[in-house]
Amino acid sequence: MNQTLNVALGERSYPIHIGTGLLADPALIQPFFKQRKALIVTNETIAPLYLDRLRSTLETAGISALSVVLPDGEAFKTWETLNQIFDALLASHCERNTTLVALGGGVIGDMGGFAAACYQRGMPFIQVPTTLLSQVDSSVGGKTAINHPLGKNMIGAFYQPRLVLADISTLDTLPNRELKAGLAEVIKYGLIRDPEFFSWLEGNMPRLLARDREALIYAVHRSCQNKADVVAADERETGERALLNLGHTFGHAIETGMGYGVWLHGEAVSAGTLIAAELSMHLGWLTADDCARIERIFKAADLPVRGPALGAARYIELMRHDKKVQDGKMRLVLLKSIGQGVISDIATEAQMAEAIQARCDGG
Ligand code: NAD
Ligand code: GLY
Repeated sequence: MNQTLNVALGERSYPIHIGTGLLADPALIQPFFKQRKALIVTNETIAPLYLDRLRSTLETAGISALSVVLPDGEAFKTWETLNQIFDALLASHCERNTTLVALGGGVIGDMGGFAAACYQRGMPFIQVPTTLLSQVDSSVGGKTAINHPLGKNMIGAFYQPRLVLADISTLDTLPNRELKAGLAEVIKYGLIRDPEFFSWLEGNMPRLLARDREALIYAVHRSCQNKADVVAADERETGERALLNLGHTFGHAIETGMGYGVWLHGEAVSAGTLIAAELSMHLGWLTADDCARIERIFKAADLPVRGPALGAARYIELMRHDKKVQDGKMRLVLLKSIGQGVISDIATEAQMAEAIQARCDGG
């Protein structure tokens, strides 16, 4: 049942292993170390669950592993926490060829990857994602970052891992709310480029929510295949990769506007995608039936389909910090149809405000 994919980036290509029991398999991880030393970056929730297992697998592979355990949460995706990684790297005399292993969800992966990009101008790193969201999205593709009080993921680097080890067994301990948040990014792939997968998701959402292993492996594999294809074609987001941000411009506004960690990233993406769908319908692209189908799938995943009452003006103010803004003009990911995303700057602020009001509380 275990599967392997490849992210094709020339000499920086790397495998994604997806399956069960991978954390305990030294043979999968051993070839990726230049030096027999690693620093595992994780957090206080994940450490008691998986740190010993990973450390002992590394030891079996002949790699001595130190660790740094960070505070847990989006609110800690900051310079201060990042600095704790640098402190640990320096205090334990890590060198440029020591490998950093990020063990955790997207927060740990994004921060660990950014630390690896900066430490001695770049050290090798491995992603061991333990949330659904990080297994289907954030561990693949090399976007690394921390937040700024004025905007999500504003400080960061493109820096690819050497290996992604997505062990589905780690999802056994993931809280339900986090599992559902991950489903928002899974649905995204169906919406922007994979209509067959969208239909599969419509039929299989109950299996995913029940954590059926076969369904989860299929969904992670198909999501990673979509992501790997997009990243291989446009690593640094000069075009197509921006499609992966469907719902994110509105979603990041929700996360920043509500305070980091109040809405989970996937929850904000869910509500944000419904605003993007509404706007796409106002522009004459999506039909009302398609819009209703999109709302139904997010509801089936038990995700929020309305944004919080920040007020349209505040949404738009926050959206101006989006990384897709070009020459001061906002570009959004919208939908021509289910399975066809488009990057467009044609929506006016008045149209955006109208869609926000239609799809947010207090609107
Ligand atoms: P997260 O990293 O905060 O993890 C969610 C929660 O689950 C945390 O409390 C974590 O400690 C806990 N957890 C993790 N694995 C667990 C397990 N196996 N069992 C029990 N608890 C576990 O959140 P996330 O949803 O994984 O990631 C969200 C972050 O990812 C955001 O910061 C977002 O900006 C970023 N992101 C980045 C990219 C990218 O391309 N780099 C893409 C999407 C999202
Ligand atoms: N999650 C968006 C990207 O990787 O481009």
